[in-house]
Amino acid sequence: MFLREIEKPYVILSAAMTIDGKIASRAGDPEISDEKDWKEVHKLRTQVDAIMVGKGTILKDDPKLHIKFYKHKGYYRIVADSNLDIPINSKVIQFQPETYPTIICTTENVNENKIKEFKTKNVKIIQAGKEKRVNLIKAMTQLYKLGIKSILLEGGGTLNWSFIECQLIDEVRLTIAPWIIGGKNAISLVEGEGFEKMVQGPRFRLEEVRKRDNYVILRYKNQRL
Ligand SMILES: NC(=O)c1ccc[n+]([C@@H]2O[C@H](COP(=O)([O-])OP(=O)(O)OC[C@H]3O[C@@H](n4cnc5c(N)ncnc54)[C@H](OP(=O)(O)O)[C@@H]3O)[C@@H](O)[C@H]2O)c1
Repeated sequence: MFLREIEKPYVILSAAMTIDGKIASRAGDPEISDEKDWKEVHKLRTQVDAIMVGKGTILKDDPKLHIKFYKHKGYYRIVADSNLDIPINSKVIQFQPETYPTIICTTENVNENKIKEFKTKNVKIIQAGKEKRVNLIKAMTQLYKLGIKSILLEGGGTLNWSFIECQLIDEVRLTIAPWIIGGKNAISLVEGEGFEKMVQGPRFRLEEVRKRDNYVILRYKNQRL
């Protein structure tokens, strides 16, 4: 499968992970980045049209997905949530919606009353596909039509896998933090079923390697670009 030949946003997968590839501890502790890394990530956020996360990240971390270190006009926050399960009082909905409007990508099976409830909070709902989970290819096409030309995908591991599986990742930006946390139940950078053979996975070209304190920052581009 090749990188999607559809009109879609440019997608940058961004994450901080431990040396052993975990993006949270087995208990869900996500504190991997240091302040300097957060500043870099927030800088990256200033350069895109939207930040996207999965339902799991909202339920576990309840992030605001805002910008702390720079003045900025804002961007969209996008959540993949097949059945509109996230609490309506999640920070991603309540915190500064005028600066960071929120879009939730759901399936077409979602309950109409739930949609109405979220719309009262000015949340935009995009319905993509009738499968169990959000059809990301359809969602990307709709987001592109809304004028979203670039997305910073900030996890978690389950959503990252679906983007990889659908060949939707253009760039990867990783911070490797200097410790090892272990745990087969600790979330890895990419979860899901995985490919059977190496040749099936998308290949990336190393564009940048940087060392800062004991952290390593890596940037890759999809080889097909
Ligand atoms: N270190 C970092 O940089 C970083 C960044 C982000 C998150 N994290 C960590 O990652 C963990 C959360 O990861 P997670 O894997 O549990 O959850 P996740 O990837 O954030 O969310 C996964 C959920 O999204 C929903 N979803 C909707 N459409 C989907 C699709 N097409 N493909 C995949 N998922 C889809 C699914 O639930 P429904 O089908 O029910 O909607 C799925 O269970 C947290 O512990 C968080 O701290 C770390």
